[in-house]
Amino acid sequence: MITFQERVNLAPFNTFGVTEYARWFTRIEKPVQIPALLQHALFSSGPHLILGGGSNVLFTRAFEGLIIRIELAGIKVIREDNEYVWIKAAAGENWHKLVMFCVQNNYGGIENLSLIPGTAGAAPIQNIGAYGVELTEVLEEVEGFDLTTGSTHTLSAADCRFGYRDSIFKHELKEKFLISSITLRLTRRNHRLRTSYGAITDTLKSLNISQPTIQDISKAVIQIRTSKLPDPQQLGNAGSFFKNPVIESKHYHLLKEKHPDMPGFIIDSQQVKIPAAWLIEQCGWKGKRFGDAGVHVHQPLVLVNYGRATGKEILQLAHQIHDSVVDKFNIDLQTEVNIIG
Ligand code: FAD
Ligand code: EPU
Repeated sequence: MITFQERVNLAPFNTFGVTEYARWFTRIEKPVQIPALLQHALFSSGPHLILGGGSNVLFTRAFEGLIIRIELAGIKVIREDNEYVWIKAAAGENWHKLVMFCVQNNYGGIENLSLIPGTAGAAPIQNIGAYGVELTEVLEEVEGFDLTTGSTHTLSAADCRFGYRDSIFKHELKEKFLISSITLRLTRRNHRLRTSYGAITDTLKSLNISQPTIQDISKAVIQIRTSKLPDPQQLGNAGSFFKNPVIESKHYHLLKEKHPDMPGFIIDSQQVKIPAAWLIEQCGWKGKRFGDAGVHVHQPLVLVNYGRATGKEILQLAHQIHDSVVDKFNIDLQTEVNIIG
């Protein structure tokens, strides 16, 4: 059984808290609903958008089609051997709940990804990453439905063509694939601890922890994130609005002559990643507010909604930031947030 609601306010379904209306809205709570959905006239007759937790989208106008909210539930251990455990999570499971399940059971690999908002099913879309770890390192497979044929498919991590905040789901399979579950391969022992990210080392030191466990790392990451990033329940936002740009080494060295303080992380002999937060702060945007749309006071890469900002106002601010970074640094910032409209 599948039901549809007409004209639904999307404010509770996006972490920017932007009010825009969907013409049609449905929830998928059981896998059997998916084939029925794909055969329904409301699906085939107009645009549709799959939505998880709404923590990486910006609605900029009314959605004149069908929003499909994925609420599939279930976390299962499907296999284990001496070294590894394979965990399958339904797409609608909350990502942080999944991390906590793993950390509590001493399954290692995703503790650095603690407290990232959203669902398990959206995690492969941009290959979520934080504090030195990306999903690609632990993802075994993705299961889902081809929305054009209705057939089910299983993709390996290699099939997903993961990159920094990137995957096949943002290119060939954009809007063509519904992820119904993900399977992760995590360690049961000999965990590979990733503590080299500056803030983690400092936080563990401040907590007097010299031999950290995955539980300690998770705690440290939660502490850092809580101190740096605004909680969407308190202040509407979607995390980093832009990706950190990767520029050519030549360009980096030219900029470095003009801006000796400019930070950069060498990727290889050709490329350097620059923190977009630094570029945006240098352009004078940090803490700026225009009506209810603003740039966060502590993290200029995060755009915020102080209350009643519209998606259009937030997008307009993003365009101005983008253009000022082009003018000052000749760097073309790409949005991380999915702009709808
Ligand atoms: P949504 O916002 O609902 O959707 C995002 C995209 O995925 C849309 O294009 C949607 O159509 C598609 N999609 C969602 N579910 C499915 C599905 N089941 N099948 C097919 N397509 C689907 N991200 C990071 O990588 N690292 C961070 O450290 C990080 N920190 C954040 C901090 C804050 C405070 C916030 C608000 C966001 C942060 N994010 C971060 C971004 C966001 O949490 C992730 O991108 C997350 O994976 C989005 O999940 P979601 O369920 O909310 O997806
Ligand atoms: N910086 C400034 N001014 C500031 C803040 C930061 O200049 O006010 C500069 C500093 O040079 C700092 C650098 O930016 O060293 C990096 O800042 P931070 O450690 O806060 O990380 P980030 O690069 O802004 C990225 C991800 C986050 C992820 C963190 C931790 C992207 C686009 N963002 O942020 O992911 O949580 O690293 O790994 O890659 C997200 O994707 O939504 C997200 C929050």
